[in-house]
Amino acid sequence: MQLKGRKIILGITGSIAAYKAAYLTRLLVREGAEVKVIMTPLGKEFITPVTLATLSRNTVLCDFFNYDDGSWNSHVDLGIWADLLLVAPASANTMAKMANGICDNLLLTTYLSCRCPVMIAPAMDLDMFGHPATLHNMNVLLERGNIIIDPASGELASGLSGKGRMEEPENIINKLVSFFAAAGTGEVSAGETGRRTGMNSMKVLVTAGPTHEPIDPVRFIGNHSSGKMGYAIAAELAGRGAEVVLVTGPVALELEHPRVKVVKVSSAAEMHNECTRWFPECDACIMAAAVADYRPLHTPAKKIKRSGASYSIEMEPTVDILAELGKVKKKGQILAGFALETDNELENAKKKLHNKNLDFIVLNSLKEEGAGFHADTNKVTIINPDGSAVDFALKGKSEVAVDIVNHLSGLLK
Ligand code: CTP
Repeated sequence: MQLKGRKIILGITGSIAAYKAAYLTRLLVREGAEVKVIMTPLGKEFITPVTLATLSRNTVLCDFFNYDDGSWNSHVDLGIWADLLLVAPASANTMAKMANGICDNLLLTTYLSCRCPVMIAPAMDLDMFGHPATLHNMNVLLERGNIIIDPASGELASGLSGKGRMEEPENIINKLVSFFAAAGTGEVSAGETGRRTGMNSMKVLVTAGPTHEPIDPVRFIGNHSSGKMGYAIAAELAGRGAEVVLVTGPVALELEHPRVKVVKVSSAAEMHNECTRWFPECDACIMAAAVADYRPLHTPAKKIKRSGASYSIEMEPTVDILAELGKVKKKGQILAGFALETDNELENAKKKLHNKNLDFIVLNSLKEEGAGFHADTNKVTIINPDGSAVDFALKGKSEVAVDIVNHLSGLLK
């Protein structure tokens, strides 16, 4: 019952993903939330109010008036009642109207009058999602402090494949739980429990992925980092309205978001250059990249030919980017790193935190089942400069990202 007593308005708009709203409603109620559903006229074409009224245990609201007895469904009262307005699925049309203050249905008038935080889970075709008009509207909504739950990539109702699938109900519930938990502990700033998320004036540098250190024109030394953790952190920050510079090593991931500038690099030296370039104008940096510690001292211009004899490569250390940023960190800037350890985890992580002048370090251990480079899950401990540490359970990398961003948000307050 992780949402016990939370009053949630679930807004359902005209999208195929409306079928997922039934399960979402069920999960909200199962977690103890009080749910009032508002449907847009087109939303009713995709799923019936009867289903949602039964699952939410409340009358579903669709119109400004109750046509049987003339009573008024007050959007103002609804807006004051709610602890959170969740629009899921949010169609491109509804997001466009929200961004422009149009209020021609009950959901939109409630949106305009509510004082609570607003979470939006977009659902649409990949080209609609990627259209400059939709990206612009999302940007406007983020600027105003709404939280956008990034849609997933995959098979779409149109038969095409790409980004635009509404996030799965279980993951939306996890985001709500983390959000309210952070609000309860004060980790989310006061503004975040109101309309604004508190991160929309922030700029954050995030690094992700491995680096590739060239041996010759066709070979490199790399590592198994998938970039998933850093990308999840960037998406979470952007969803809360922060402007993000994502400096990424070579990975198989894409992140298209109006508030994320993606800077692609290959080697540790290139990553170092980009980090030094962007850090001074950022409020914080989270260094999630698995940067190579050594690189070949000489890189011949031509491919090394097989000779049959053994071959050794002389290596030289790369720059410790995080330690360099720690030296130039200004008052008020927050610097965080990761520590990947196989033994003496806590002790080694604490040493890195102090040596690199960090504000916190995220420890993940390769010993943990389900944690590590290619997994979709991770199990982390966040360690503070005073030595205090918070252990988190094994969870999806996007949920770990929520915990890390909550921690950062608390420090940036
Ligand atoms: N890091 C960095 N530049 C490097 C190496 C690491 O900025 N050349 C950063 C990583 O992004 C991470 C943190 O430093 O946030 C710790 O990385 P990790 O590999 O755990 O530790 P190292 O400092 O490289 O030490 P070791 O490999 O000996 O454990």
